[in-house]
Amino acid sequence: MEKSMGAATSKPKLPVLLTPLPGPKAKDVIARDAQFVSPSYTRGYPLVAKKGSGAIVEDVDGNQFLDFAAGIAVVSTGHCHPRVVEAIQKQAAELIHISGTDFYVPNLVELAERLAAVAPGKEAKKVYFGNSGTEAIEAAIKLAKYHTRRDKIIAFHGCFHGRTLGALSLTASKAVQRKGFGSLLGGVFHIPYPNSYRCPYGNPSPCTCVESATFLEREIFKRLVDPEEVAAVFIEPIQGEGGYVPAPKEFLLELQRICRKNGILLVCDEVQSGMGRTGKWWAGDHAGIEPDILCVAKGIASGMPLSATIARASVMDWKPGAHASTFGGNPVSVAAALATMELLASQYIENAKRMGDFLQSRMAGWPERHKIVGDVRGKGLMIGIEIVRDQKTKERAGEFRNDIVNRAFEKGLLLLGAGENSIRVAPPLMIDEEQADFAARTLESCIADVEKSA
Ligand SMILES: Cc1ncc(COP(=O)(O)O)c(C=O)c1O
Repeated sequence: MEKSMGAATSKPKLPVLLTPLPGPKAKDVIARDAQFVSPSYTRGYPLVAKKGSGAIVEDVDGNQFLDFAAGIAVVSTGHCHPRVVEAIQKQAAELIHISGTDFYVPNLVELAERLAAVAPGKEAKKVYFGNSGTEAIEAAIKLAKYHTRRDKIIAFHGCFHGRTLGALSLTASKAVQRKGFGSLLGGVFHIPYPNSYRCPYGNPSPCTCVESATFLEREIFKRLVDPEEVAAVFIEPIQGEGGYVPAPKEFLLELQRICRKNGILLVCDEVQSGMGRTGKWWAGDHAGIEPDILCVAKGIASGMPLSATIARASVMDWKPGAHASTFGGNPVSVAAALATMELLASQYIENAKRMGDFLQSRMAGWPERHKIVGDVRGKGLMIGIEIVRDQKTKERAGEFRNDIVNRAFEKGLLLLGAGENSIRVAPPLMIDEEQADFAARTLESCIADVEKSA
């Protein structure tokens, strides 16, 4: 077991495991959870978290883990960053709630200004605040329909946009997420997501997958729906839950062209890929696209519930009462977001790029060294590793992936799966090289162990 207390501070930077996992206190919580908590949650391994600091999470038995999942890509500045905690405490002592729906709040305006300033495109922006990613998508669906007076929507296979019924209608990630919930929103058409490693049109890898955009013109607009009835195309510029799959730049530019030509709004769901995770504010910035509506959540407030639907001002033209939320943009979450944005802008976006490059350079050789690694991909600290049974057939190996993620947990490294057979590497954006190095070594050794036993 690796141990390090870190040179600059007395806080540990690497895992310290004291008990078998789960420890006795963790076992007790897990048993009570089974009795009282919704069984719809999907816990892969038994982490019972008690506290967090930076990239370290401590469980109820005192075991410390290196967190490369970041609360599902949420704690962008790390756990309990002192500046974020201070901002939350100060705001909580001053005003916790008033509702931005009915009253004006200065820090909400300030955050809207800051988000508008970093959103892509020159046109002025307006911002709607909600509490979660799915709410950002709901707002985008409603705004797109309202503004265009059209009611059809295009979305992509494999994408995850949330679980409320509107957002779920766009989600096409796993059937279990839709099963049992009856008919969803009508007028939603799904088409294949571009995938450079597994081109849906059978092209060899790597592929720019431009056909995934032109498919709209060649098939959908001819056979299923007239483009004049389409309000919006929703896309994750890097697919998150679906497997950490980046959409190629050429595809995104072509998709934007088709949208513009047909008066269709381009909606980028950057709930997971945004807020600096990829080494730029937005994953779409790598391609230079300018969405009409941008959906943001997860990393925006370092763990406080908040989301933003940012639109071109001319698009956000709905009237008072058309859409609102009691809690959306509550002052405490907003204070956390302002502190988060400052930290991201001053150091962590740059760090995400540096650490992402470092990790990807360490991982680039894995497909050659390990026959169960099919692909390593991503941008910044949004890295996907696809695990396969056979590199030639690319047969997906979900059981191997689960085994690798569980073994990493046993070694004190927290990871999550994504899609059927990928590992997602999504640490807080403040990790340092020692932590990135530990994660790369640990993950590679888990891959090697699973490969041997395969
Ligand atoms: C791209 C994307 N959109 C939307 C959502 C939904 O966000 P939430 O779980 O906060 O509702 C998620 C959550 O994982 C996501 O990754």
